[in-house]
This record gives sequence, C-alpha cells and structure tokens, in this order.
Amino acid sequence: MTLRAATPHDLDAIMAVERRSFPTDAWSPQAMADELSSPHGRYLVDEHEGSVIGYGGVRALQGSRDADIQTIAFDERHRGAGRGRALLRALLAAAAERGAREVFLEVRADNPGAEGLYLSEGFEEIGRRPRYYQPDDVDAIVMRLALPDRRAHDETGPLQDAAKEGAE
Ligand SMILES: CC(C)(COP(=O)(O)OP(=O)(O)OC[C@H]1O[C@@H](n2cnc3c(N)ncnc32)[C@H](O)[C@@H]1OP(=O)(O)O)[C@@H](O)C(=O)NCCC(=O)NCCS
Repeated sequence: MTLRAATPHDLDAIMAVERRSFPTDAWSPQAMADELSSPHGRYLVDEHEGSVIGYGGVRALQGSRDADIQTIAFDERHRGAGRGRALLRALLAAAAERGAREVFLEVRADNPGAEGLYLSEGFEEIGRRPRYYQPDDVDAIVMRLALPDRRAHDETGPLQDAAKEGAE
C-alpha cells in the first residue's frame, strides 16, 4: 500500500478508475482537475506496482469546522483488501490536520459496501436526499462523523505523561 498526495499529473489515471467505478455519473475530467488543483482540500492516491489503483479526496477549508469527503474509489481488483479503509482514515487525518471537527459525506442508498465502510469508521446517518443521484434516481444517505478534539488531546497528553511519571 503506497499512499501519496495526488498531483495534477495523476488526472488520467484517476479518471480511468473514476469512469470504471461510476459508469453512470463519473465526474468530468475538468471537474476532477479542478479538485486536484484546489487549495481547499487534499487528494490522495494509492499505488500498486507503480500504477494508481485508488484515490480519494476531502474538502476541508483551512480554519473551517466542517469537511466533506468528496470521493473515494478503487479499481475493482483491489477492493475488499482494506485499502479503502486506510485511504479513508488518511483523508480523515488530513481533515483533522486542517482543523475540521466534523466530516460529512453522501453515499448512494444502493451502495451498501461503501455505507458499511463509513458506518464501521463511526459515521452516522443524519438524513436522506431523495433522488439525489441522477440519472439513476437513487437517494443519497447523508452521513456525519465528529472528529476528536485534537487540542484537548494535545493538552491532556503531557498531563497524562506527567501523571504516569509521578506514579512511577
Ligand atoms: C467503497 C470502496 C472505496 C471501499 O474500499 P475497499 O478497499 O473495497 O474497502 P475495504 O477493503 O477497506 O473494506 C472496508 C469495509 O467496507 C465494507 N465493505 C467493503 N466492501 C463491501 C461489500 N462488498 N459489501 C459490504 N461491505 C463492504 C466492510 O465494512 C469492510 O470492512 P471489513 O472488511 O472489515 O468487513 C471500494 O469498494 C470502491 O471503490 N467501490 C466503488 C466506488 C464507490 O462506491 N465509492 C464510494 C462512493 S461513496
């Protein structure tokens, strides 16, 4: 598993996975290129033997409480091996690093695999958007995850260490 930051040079490889993963509603190359060059988020790719086999992105404006998982997809041959979960965790870490406290996403109601991944990472359903995905006429499930407060964690870390030392 080789996760790295995506660059605009990855566009063609990402679009190949995108088209195969979302045959009816793939993003346009222009939309994907805009995302890859946006300063307001983080895109990562996963490589296998030098080729991009998966990618994902999070929109997280510096200083904003909210972040959104924009997309995540792997080539079919590489699904079910834990790589999607690893990439999702890396995107959540990137959102936390940029100061986000909550992460939102939408998932198709007919995609139990992705929904299962998000539920198992702690996302909760907060609503539905009827017929959000067109032309397929499929509802979107809107999900939310609260990220741990990193500042609170940083503040308690040294105290816990000091308490441990005191106990020794
Ligand atoms: C969704 C996707 C990114 C997940 O990546 P992945 O590498 O296949 O997932 P992982 O192997 O890390 O599996 C993580 C969890 O997802 C769930 N999951 C994955 N595939 C599943 C399936 N076919 N059915 C049910 N649950 C599934 C399980 O909870 C799994 O955990 P477990 O292995 O401990 O049971 C990948 O399957 C994919 O690219 N799908 C097509 C594109 C897509 O639907 N993207 C999401 C759009 S919202």
